[in-house]
Amino acid sequence: MSTTATTPATGAERGAPDGTLLHMHGVDMHFKTGVHAVDSVDLAVRRGEFVSVVGPSGCGKSTLLRIAAGLETRTGGRMDVSTDAIGYVFQDPTLLPWRTVMGNVELCTQLQHQPKEVRRKKAQAAIEMVGLKGFEGNYPSQLSGGMRMRASLARALTLDPELFLFDEPFGAIDEITRERLNGELLKIFREQRFAGVFVTHSIAEAVFLSTRVVVMSARPGRIVGEFEVPFDPHREPSLRADAAFARLTGEVGECLRAAA
Ligand SMILES: Nc1ncnc2c1ncn2[C@@H]1O[C@H](COP(=O)(O)OP(=O)(O)O)[C@@H](O)[C@H]1O
Ligand SMILES: [Mg+2]
Repeated sequence: MSTTATTPATGAERGAPDGTLLHMHGVDMHFKTGVHAVDSVDLAVRRGEFVSVVGPSGCGKSTLLRIAAGLETRTGGRMDVSTDAIGYVFQDPTLLPWRTVMGNVELCTQLQHQPKEVRRKKAQAAIEMVGLKGFEGNYPSQLSGGMRMRASLARALTLDPELFLFDEPFGAIDEITRERLNGELLKIFREQRFAGVFVTHSIAEAVFLSTRVVVMSARPGRIVGEFEVPFDPHREPSLRADAAFARLTGEVGECLRAAA
């Protein structure tokens, strides 16, 4: 297991004293195939931070998330993860076609053998949080792409994640829906205050959602730039038209082009 989990007295006390829930120290990943995917990555994410990771395709972003989730074992460096409440959302919504929205959202808590009333209550709250109220009985084939992604997000929310990992969840979604989902995810983040790591190809999405944007180089992926995002957590869609927003996305874009 590549994660070290501490078992604190209460959820409120989890993490390092400064609220750090994920801390990578010089993390390296050499696959057996000879691919050097990740090179000496240092990354700390605290509760209440939303860190986006942008980088060229194949630079090790997904590998980094899998290492953070304990799904992959790093070959070098150290990693501290101070929670076992980890949410993970993939680019593909990965819903079971034979289950309704409610059935899909209840899946994780069901696999944890949580009592039926508890998981129903959590699923209902998560469904409402992502704006799917009224669609509990729909099957995935009866949903739009954006709604499927909302269901996937709701399923992860039922685990009350303290560390929330997102691997290009909105990559396959049209721009208007994506912007709406960005606004809704931001609202959920403000309410839940998890530590977020969000991989995306979209610089605008990264800046809009994040408290910090991290830029990775081409493989082997190293962190080559970090940008604090100074905007108020209550962000309106109109922020995207702001001059300061354009300046920051321009700087991140320049760093990304130099890194690729
Ligand atoms: N399980 C694996 N075994 C061997 N190589 C892998 C494995 N997973 C990913 N890779 C390789 O590691 C590199 C980084 O992959 P990935 O993390 O998926 O990149 P990204 O998400 O940034 O596009 C790629 O060259 C990919 O082919
Ligand atoms: Mg990837």
